[in-house]
Amino acid sequence: SAGIPGIQERTLVAVKPDGVQRRLVGDVIKRFERRGFKLVGMKLLQANEGILAEHYHELRRKPFYPALIHYMTSGPVVAMVWEGYNVVRTSRAMVGDTDSAEAKPGTIRGDFSIHVSRNVVHASDSVEMAQREINLWFHSSELVDWDCCDYSNTY
Ligand code: PPS
Repeated sequence: SAGIPGIQERTLVAVKPDGVQRRLVGDVIKRFERRGFKLVGMKLLQANEGILAEHYHELRRKPFYPALIHYMTSGPVVAMVWEGYNVVRTSRAMVGDTDSAEAKPGTIRGDFSIHVSRNVVHASDSVEMAQREINLWFHSSELVDWDCCDYSNTY
């Protein structure tokens, strides 16, 4: 709307079961808020195998796939949609490297995770995947368009 390409880009971020169990949901949200992104969807849910099979379709033949599904169904996840300029790439930088030993301090994984099998958070890795993942995890009616700070009609 303001004309800058990518300003209304959206991505899916999910706090994984270990992140929820370790009470890290607030910390994850805080980082995205402070960075300047806008929360347009959020829910806590127990993911079933169906949604995870879709979500991790590309990984279905990986040796770690069964363990990944077991982990992701071991408790609730918090799925969120964040919006803002370049949010897909910037979120990946905030989340940190998939290889925990390479995840830089200051990133979510670099601050909270020592192993890829318990890496606290997921973020979409491309704009195309983000669109696919948002459609998978959210009904369009669950996403909210809102604007900042309307002080009209105050009393
Ligand atoms: S690969 O092999 O390059 O396609 O995989 P990679 O990009 O490194 O990781 C893709 C997602 O798989 C998760 N992963 C694992 N989960 C559990 N256990 C093990 N051992 C494991 N290895 C990789 C990794 O966290 C990525 O998940 P998301 O949710 O996309 O971050």
